[in-house]
Amino acid sequence: MYSKEKKKQHSIKKGFWGHRSLSIFISFLGGAFILSLFSIIQKTVVDEGGLILDPRSYIMPVSYGGVTGIIFGLWYIRLKENEAELLEAYSSTLEGWAKAVEMRDKNTQNHTNRVVALTEELVRSMKIKETDLAHIKRGAMLHDIGKIDIPDSILNKPGELTEEERVIMEEHPARASDMLMNIRFLHPALPIPYYHHERWDGSGYPDALIGKEIPLEARIFAVIDVWDALTNDRPYRKAWTKNDALLYIKEKAGTFFDPYVVKAFSAHIRSTF
Ligand SMILES: [Fe+2]
Repeated sequence: MYSKEKKKQHSIKKGFWGHRSLSIFISFLGGAFILSLFSIIQKTVVDEGGLILDPRSYIMPVSYGGVTGIIFGLWYIRLKENEAELLEAYSSTLEGWAKAVEMRDKNTQNHTNRVVALTEELVRSMKIKETDLAHIKRGAMLHDIGKIDIPDSILNKPGELTEEERVIMEEHPARASDMLMNIRFLHPALPIPYYHHERWDGSGYPDALIGKEIPLEARIFAVIDVWDALTNDRPYRKAWTKNDALLYIKEKAGTFFDPYVVKAFSAHIRSTF
């Protein structure tokens, strides 16, 4: 197990240095090319045409240009590495928040990891823009973050909720929005935490939006959230079979769920049976 992990780390490191060497080489070529081009223009303008074909006259431009290119290349690589490290730190923090909710909610162990993975698969199969995917994944990860503010007596109540308790439970999307609103980096991820309990026919919450008023990512996630809840054991019932769960989701197309999303989901999930 350990040597497998070591091998993996080694191959990542090898790939990293291979990528770095290639970037440095390209930077050298870019810098050398630009300065050589300036050199040719200079020779043409000051009428030294004879030197254009003399390779020795390019030693300085290639050297200076190449070195300058490498310096800029290294600076750019470092910038990208910092950006990647920062994103990694953000992701780990969000995972920690999601984990904190799961640790409190005894009903939904590992639910977050599964729904994030399935959301990514479905979004890819629907050919949604790659740039939107990162925000959608963050939204899926934080979909129930508002539950962190729901009392244990309600969150982990074994029986049915009273009307008053249900009202408090249904505040979790709004509480998620309150929590995340001041984090600008997470604004594009907010539609899932805030709208994932809306329904296509307007019977959902918190805003009772209808049809395409509900953001697409929230319409997608609503299907996945219910699918995962149905196909996994809960303290109060056994998991449904995949066929039964899919049948239920199809029955609810046009009432709870967007029919277009259900069609895409059905095609995708069938390929995984
Ligand atoms: Fe929720």
